[in-house]
Amino acid sequence: RVEKQTKDSVTFSWSFGRYQLRVWHSPFRLEILCEQEVMCTFMELNNQGTECTLNFILRATCCAPSGPSSIGADLCLHGFRHVYGLPQHADNLQLRDTRDGEPYRLYNLDVFAYPLYSRLGLYGSVPLMVAHKPDRTLGVFWLNASETFINIQYSDHQTLFYCSLNGVHSNFSPSMLRYQALPPLFALGYHQCRWNYIDEADVKSVDAGFDRHSIPYDVIWLDIEHTDGKRYFTWDPVHFPEPAKLQQHLEKKNRKLVIISDPHIKVDPSWSLYCEARDRGHFVKDREGQIFKGSCWPGESSYLDFSSSATRAWYSRCFGLDKYKGSTPSLFVWNDMNEPSVFSGPELTMPKDAVHCGAWEHRDLHNLYGFYQHMATVEGLITRSGGLERPFVLSRSFFAGSQRLGAVWTGDNVANWEYLKISVPMVLSLSLAGIAFCGADVGGFIQDPEPELLVRWYQAAALQPFFRGHSANVTNRREPWLFGDEVTAAIRTVIHQRYSLLPYWYTLFHQAHTSALPPLRLVLLNFPSFYVGGALLACPVTEPGIQEIKVLLPGSDEIWYDIHSALVYKGGRTLSLPVTLDTVSLDDNFTIPARWLGSLQISRKFPNCNLLSPQGTADGELYLDDGHSFRYRDRKVFCLRRFSMLSGRLLCRPASEEGTFDCNTVIQSVTILGVKSKPSAVIVHASGKEIWH
Ligand code: GLC
Repeated sequence: RVEKQTKDSVTFSWSFGRYQLRVWHSPFRLEILCEQEVMCTFMELNNQGTECTLNFILRATCCAPSGPSSIGADLCLHGFRHVYGLPQHADNLQLRDTRDGEPYRLYNLDVFAYPLYSRLGLYGSVPLMVAHKPDRTLGVFWLNASETFINIQYSDHQTLFYCSLNGVHSNFSPSMLRYQALPPLFALGYHQCRWNYIDEADVKSVDAGFDRHSIPYDVIWLDIEHTDGKRYFTWDPVHFPEPAKLQQHLEKKNRKLVIISDPHIKVDPSWSLYCEARDRGHFVKDREGQIFKGSCWPGESSYLDFSSSATRAWYSRCFGLDKYKGSTPSLFVWNDMNEPSVFSGPELTMPKDAVHCGAWEHRDLHNLYGFYQHMATVEGLITRSGGLERPFVLSRSFFAGSQRLGAVWTGDNVANWEYLKISVPMVLSLSLAGIAFCGADVGGFIQDPEPELLVRWYQAAALQPFFRGHSANVTNRREPWLFGDEVTAAIRTVIHQRYSLLPYWYTLFHQAHTSALPPLRLVLLNFPSFYVGGALLACPVTEPGIQEIKVLLPGSDEIWYDIHSALVYKGGRTLSLPVTLDTVSLDDNFTIPARWLGSLQISRKFPNCNLLSPQGTADGELYLDDGHSFRYRDRKVFCLRRFSMLSGRLLCRPASEEGTFDCNTVIQSVTILGVKSKPSAVIVHASGKEIWH
């Protein structure tokens, strides 16, 4: 409602006057206030002289055939001295002052072995910045998929953000930003990938290797060489003659196959899929109106126009089990090169004047190209199952909202310690921007990791949401058992630990799905530590030859437990912990549903619960459903239980009004730390009854 009007300004308010928007006429600017305090000013530079601590400007010009198109703005955030976000950059978590160099650029590009500590645009973009000060956190979201530059200046009185971008159109809605998709449970396990597993025998032997070495895993991946001449949706007839049988072989052990499907289509008039796409107008055009051609893995290629809903619907149908020969319901998908990568194009991408949907220039939607391929693939997998099964699709490129679709990873990293170190701020920055299901290639994609690095990488990545080992075609093989017993044992331990925490991860993803809270959370000013959910504090070792690490335990009132030894530490101090090759640093201070593996498969049967009870009370949730279908959503077939230690009693009750799930799950044990005596009673609420033990 209009709160106040003067000759210079008009003030609107909402939430019972708590928030206000004040519009100044001359010079034009907007102020957003919370509890009478100005939080941010839009177009602050129109009114030089006001003190502010954060400001950004958007501006650009470019010569498109339709005429120059640009937008510029500045924004000042008052009193904020820390700002995060704007993935994807291989840089520190806190955004840096850009006066010493280049602005942050958001322009999705394929950058092999990307330079570190750079503001160069990488594979995906989320134009969201989050500013933080002790009593307040504030987000700035710029919903535009064009090339964007952001300048930042910090100073005692003023921190400035300057941001420029090309193109002013946006044809998407805030609904894009809805919460994280709930992944199928298998997708939270360990994934084994390589460019490439050579043939079916190779895949089966790697699969058997995991069993032989008692290392759990859920998914094996096939890269571009599995196809017939890089024609996606086909199989190499010599090396993969019986793909359906291969999938059935894996499925018997409850394991999945992921195959790659890129957005470029080989120009081959003798290939029916190419002809169909060409004849139905599904390719991006050049500025002369001809089908755009560029080069990628198959050689000369054309690019599907995923911004068109008709193209997306057609592409989705290509994943139908009848259409995609050799595919079965246990095949899932990896979308790569979808920035899009065009080897012959400017900056290895599509020219900005290419044309989508008959009218849109590529420059206007560049950062959305991969998002739309991801969307079409996800729709394809859902449709394939008659709308019943949850999809799993990994995409290299992404935009705001990609969390609704699936997972992303940080692209072509290198097997050295610096890339391991940078993977932590990269996944934290993605998490902060809402892209919660993310990870980095374990071991580094390019070059060969030394064994110590490989182990440390497994240990760090096991604590990150998407956990996949991957390596380039010219690297040595690096399955976990190829480096001697000590290394195999360390990797086995950490993968087992991941699986033991799977109910916790799944519960965190359910939380992300329903409330948007990401599983990975920042520990401000305490790099490289981060939280996994509300319960675990992780501090990965990211340097070689380390014998001791220092971990700052947050919160002087908190009590922390070493997850392995159950030793107790008070918060607000820095701990020095001795480190050996098999040390994974994890501390916890809440309730964690955990499970120890009985077999190598993901067993859904016996979660264990650790209840940690710093002040004699503890609280936590466990989410369970069938792990793969939409029945949790459509028929409310799920179970969300709350475990609490309260007044000497242990309570187990439903945490949601909704949901029934006859899952046959037995809580095998509940471990309570930090209490002086056994609970006087265990009270279980089930089916409306209260059962006392
Ligand atoms: C790109 C991907 C990489 C993949 C390779 C071959 O470099 O980032 O993960 O293995 O292409 O498909």
